[in-house]
This record gives sequence, C-alpha cells and structure tokens, in this order.
Amino acid sequence: MATMTCIEDLRRRARHTVPKMFFDYAEAGSYAEETLRANRADLERIKLRQRVLVDVSRRDLATTIIGETVPLPLALGPVGLAGMQHRDGEIAACRAAQAAGIPFTLSTMSVCSIEDVAGAVDKPFWFQLYVMKDRGFARSLVERAAAAKCSALMLTIDLQVLGQRHCDARNGLSVPPEIKIRNVLDIATKPRWALGMLMGKRKTFGNLAGYARAGTNVNSLASWISTQFDPALSWKDVEWIRSLWPGKLILKGVLDVDDARLAVKTGASALVVSNHGGRQLDGAPSSISALPKIAEAVGSEIEIMFDGGIRSGQDLMRALALGARSCLIGRAYIYGLAAGGQTGVAQAIEFIRKELDVTMALCGVNSVREIGRQVIASD
Ligand code: GLV
Repeated sequence: MATMTCIEDLRRRARHTVPKMFFDYAEAGSYAEETLRANRADLERIKLRQRVLVDVSRRDLATTIIGETVPLPLALGPVGLAGMQHRDGEIAACRAAQAAGIPFTLSTMSVCSIEDVAGAVDKPFWFQLYVMKDRGFARSLVERAAAAKCSALMLTIDLQVLGQRHCDARNGLSVPPEIKIRNVLDIATKPRWALGMLMGKRKTFGNLAGYARAGTNVNSLASWISTQFDPALSWKDVEWIRSLWPGKLILKGVLDVDDARLAVKTGASALVVSNHGGRQLDGAPSSISALPKIAEAVGSEIEIMFDGGIRSGQDLMRALALGARSCLIGRAYIYGLAAGGQTGVAQAIEFIRKELDVTMALCGVNSVREIGRQVIASD
C-alpha cells in the first residue's frame, strides 16, 4: 500500500476501493452542493497566525468532551451505512476510535446494530438517534442504547425531511445493492470490497431489523426515510427524549442563534453546530461561518461542538479558535474506513492529531485549552 500522508490520500484510495454508490453516498451534498462547498471554502479562507520563537516544547492536546477525558478534541460523528464502506465498518471504526481514546458515535442508520458494536468493543460509545413516526420504535432504540451502556445520546435535529442528494437518486442507492448490470460491473472492479462483504454477515441496517420490513432491503433509502422520519418533530419531542434518556444528551444540527438558545433550554450537555455536512438545507451558511455567533451567544451555557468540512488538524485549530470545544469528523474517517478498515480509521485520526500538534507549535500554542481568536491572522 502506497504511503498515506493525509486525509486526501485516504479519500483517493477510498474512491478506488468501494462501489461508486457507497462512495458517492458519503461524498455527496444535497442539491447543487453550495453548502457542501461553502463548508470547505470558508474553512480554507481562515488564515492562521504564525508565531515564532515561543517555547512550544510542552504541547498538550488533551481536553474533555462532555466530561469524558480525551487526548485530542475530536470525536467520530455518526455516518449512515459505514458498514457498507467496509465489512463490519462500524465495529472497525469504533475500535479505532477507542484505541485512540476518542468517542465514536453509532448512527441509527448503521449496518452493525447497537448490540453488535457493544459486543465487539470494550468501552462505551455514543448513539445517534433519528426519531421515526413510530415513537414506540424510537423509544426502543433509546432503551437499546441504554442497555448497551452508551455514554451519550446524540439527537440529530436537522433531518425531519431529507435533502435530496442527486447522486443517490441516479445511483439507485439501495441496501444491499440491487443486482443490476451497472452495479455488478462496478462491484467486479472492487474485488477487495466484494470479498470482505461476502465474508461478513452484516449487509443491511442492523438497528432496523424487524422494523424496516423484515430488515432486509430498504429499496430506496430516500423514499424509505420520507415515509418513516417524522416531519412533525419539535422541541416538545426533545423533552420527551430527555424523559426517556436521563444521561448525557447532544443536540446535533444547530446553525442558528435562536435555535441555539432553544437548545440551551433543553438542558442538553452539548450542541453540535452543523449543517449535516452540506447534506440537508442547500443554500444554508457554512458551519464555520455560523460557529462564532453561536459560541458567543450560548458558549458559556452549553458545550459547543462543531462539524462541517474538517479534513485536517489545521481545520480543527480553526474551529477551536472560533469557539468550538471539540469537533466531529464524518467523511474524513469514512475515507480511512473505506481505504483500510480499522487501520485506515486509525490513520485518519492520527493524521489529524499530528497536524493539530504541529499547527499548535507553529502558532506558538502549548495547550488546546489556550486556543482562541489569538491564533487567527488578521487581514
Ligand atoms: C443521513 O444522515 C445522511 O446524511 O445520509
């Protein structure tokens, strides 16, 4: 395997390793992908302030995320279908995260179920919840997360309806892939992936077994979501979730100061400033442009997490400088997972850790807790 040096290397490898349908699913943004592009472009526009001849020999990246001690301010965010990027992908990613000492979030739309992952790892992980119209099912997911000793529940609040990702519609995204000539030809060029999948036993949405019609084939993911997810979801339901889940709650998908204030009132432990990786409201501002206003308004009342375009330690530095206490990555670790399973995810985390460490040194900072506006270069 050629030497991998950064997330972009993993991305290129991933593209050649997994069927197009699944690479595209992870890669896509919604509609014209304006917000997807803005997430990256606005991060890149923020310039870091080079400082010299500062003693940076005692660098410390450790902090806490919702009270959990971590060696760097990073967690793996929830990503649907990770188990289609690599055999038992959620287990592989969780193991890599736990080996690195950072949290892993299991998606409701995962391939490995809550119980599969809990049985395969030694430490608690986080569970991400989508609330379906069938509240009994949503309740059962929360109960399963509690039984699996998940240490936090992350409620995604920006996907009551699905923003269309054109490539999923064109590719006919289904799980498992339908036997069509186009898919068969594509899979034939991805033998490593196909062999891995053949040897694995998990090939559909693990958490939805028995719920999504025998749990086997969610034919069109988009149409399934549109019939099952609840467009009536409201802040009242967050109260209901809180009554079911007395543990730590993270609200993911806040992009507006008014919503951030409402999030504080729920008593959640943290909110994630996020536009769902540019996959929902196209035309929304980039996550990084929304972060400073939200951090300023509610940062003293609730812990602020961030996602949206993080591909490097430099990006992590930018988000911390603008008010995040920690960041989630999605695509950045999915590329590693697709490229090399658990090893690839471990590489992705390590690239970002090393880049943050060097970036801190070159900005003259010794501790992540010291990172603030002072590391941003003024024009
Ligand atoms: C679901 O969370 C998705 O973004 O596809």
